[in-house]
Amino acid sequence: MSASSGDPKGPQRALVTGAASGLGQAIALGFARRGVAVAIADIDSRGGEETRAACATLGVRAIFLQVDLLTADGPDEMVRSAIEELGGLNILVNNAGYGTGEAFLEMTAKTWDRTLGLNLRAMALSCAAAGRHMAAQKSGHIINITSPASRMALPTYTAYSASKAGVDALTRAGAIALAKHGVFVNSVAPGMMDTAMQRTTEVLFAKLDGRNDVEQYLAERTARVPLGRRTSCDEVAEGVIWLALDAPPYVTAERLNLSGGLDKD
Ligand SMILES: NC(=O)c1ccc[n+]([C@@H]2O[C@H](COP(=O)([O-])OP(=O)(O)OC[C@H]3O[C@@H](n4cnc5c(N)ncnc54)[C@H](O)[C@@H]3O)[C@@H](O)[C@H]2O)c1
Repeated sequence: MSASSGDPKGPQRALVTGAASGLGQAIALGFARRGVAVAIADIDSRGGEETRAACATLGVRAIFLQVDLLTADGPDEMVRSAIEELGGLNILVNNAGYGTGEAFLEMTAKTWDRTLGLNLRAMALSCAAAGRHMAAQKSGHIINITSPASRMALPTYTAYSASKAGVDALTRAGAIALAKHGVFVNSVAPGMMDTAMQRTTEVLFAKLDGRNDVEQYLAERTARVPLGRRTSCDEVAEGVIWLALDAPPYVTAERLNLSGGLDKD
């Protein structure tokens, strides 16, 4: 089923956060290929502009919104601008994220503040801002990017895994708050994708685990995935787009594991 302008759902407009690179960029491009107008939100204006131009080449309306989601007003302003500039909003993908490795006994306030501020507080405020608009129009989809880390014991990645556990709580609460308004709230848990953020973090994990054979360390981590390989941003983006455009209208409060069996529930 296509969600382009001929679709009974009508023209679709999506806001994707953290879409200057990695998974967010793949999601924005995936929407553009399906005829969905996209707002690309990111702090990185160079990457954001590149994603915008690539989406526009596919023939859809594409805008870039520069935003620091760590600011108190960033999420509200971003949602308001997307609605104004796209002429409405049907889909929000909360993808922007941050994580860094830190030994449990050496945790810092700086890491906790940045990780919870972006991964959880900004996501919550974005859900509420978009949720108000979607509740009024009686339709919409919100998809939050979580992580298998949210359900693992990770002593060198505690702030990140706690933030993603918070994302799971937020997704469940949002789904219930918005169900009666015809708005669906789900999440996607991606497996390991070799993005810049992932590589930097895994190199740090190796160091914190006292390993200097980084390539061997990475291979061991890959071997732990039951399907025996890492995934890609494009593969995970397919799952996000399916939830937003194609899933039966009875799927809400769901967590879609796209982690090759790493996350088994
Ligand atoms: N890469 C993986 O293996 C993996 C696995 C599981 C979950 N995830 C999640 O997927 C999502 C995307 O991660 P990625 O690997 O593509 O990372 P990435 O670093 O490539 O992308 C994150 C984006 O967020 C943007 N961003 C950072 N701080 C911001 C701020 N203050 N305001 C606005 N934008 C900001 C960055 O500029 C960047 O474009 C994250 O939520 C991450 O936690 C990634």
